[in-house]
Amino acid sequence: MSRIVYVNGDYVPEGEAVISIFDRGFLMADGVYEVTSVLDGKLVDFAGHMARLRRSLGELDMASPASDVELETIHRELVTRNTLVEGGIYLQVTRGAADRDFLYPETAEPSLVLFTQAKPLVASPVAARGIKVISIPDQRWARRDIKTVQLLAPSMGKMAARAAGADDAWMVEEGLVTEGTSNNAYIVTTDGTIVTRELSQSILHGITRAAVLRFAREAQMKIEERPFTIAEAQEAAEAFITSASMFVCPVVDIDGVAVGAGTPGPVAQRLREIYIEESVKAAV
Ligand code: PDD
Repeated sequence: MSRIVYVNGDYVPEGEAVISIFDRGFLMADGVYEVTSVLDGKLVDFAGHMARLRRSLGELDMASPASDVELETIHRELVTRNTLVEGGIYLQVTRGAADRDFLYPETAEPSLVLFTQAKPLVASPVAARGIKVISIPDQRWARRDIKTVQLLAPSMGKMAARAAGADDAWMVEEGLVTEGTSNNAYIVTTDGTIVTRELSQSILHGITRAAVLRFAREAQMKIEERPFTIAEAQEAAEAFITSASMFVCPVVDIDGVAVGAGTPGPVAQRLREIYIEESVKAAV
């Protein structure tokens, strides 16, 4: 499979895409990213992803490589050129290429890279069976609300999960779950309340989280935005995660303890159905 990817103004076969070895994304993880899902060849929650990208760029005082309209055109062009029906589009902006220095360069042009990844999202076998998670210490930096490409700690977390026979890890700080390695974390209490950590600099402000909480409120479900412990999660009726690539995915096991019946729970399944139905309708 050879995709057409976008790199700094050009659409090229993936094997021909080139970035400088001096790019600060490569040298310093000085870059931010977004992942937008594609359903039926359309973009899900595109405006939300662009708003968060603007916020990430602003927080890092990084120049924008293109307007939202230009970015939308590039997304659409990649969908068309790669005949992408279902999957995701990865977008990365870095501060650009400059001789190695801890100080930001004054004149570097930001780098912009986008590529597609085809993947079944709706008929996900993982979502159908639910995932097992382990808990690990949250070793990331303190500004997790900025979607930077510093993903070594989450990668190590996923590797630890795999080594333990699990699918993912929930990160814990001061005894409380922050989020999953690449997703937001939720439990459903035995009285049916959906609990997820409140927004702060400790977690990424998930675009899927915002949509799912909106749909849950519209469906008259009770929501509490507060942190929870692993012990509370293990005793909960259900647990689940949300992200652009997993939508809503049940969690059935935490550190070897079955959550609820140890199978995907009704609240997570219902939210997944609503999210997919509404996203297909609203996709652009
Ligand atoms: N990850 N928390 C973290 C740490 C994440 O990396 C992500 C997304 C989320 C969920 O955000 P959203 O609903 O906007 O996708 C929460 C993407 C999918 C990734 O890194 O591939």
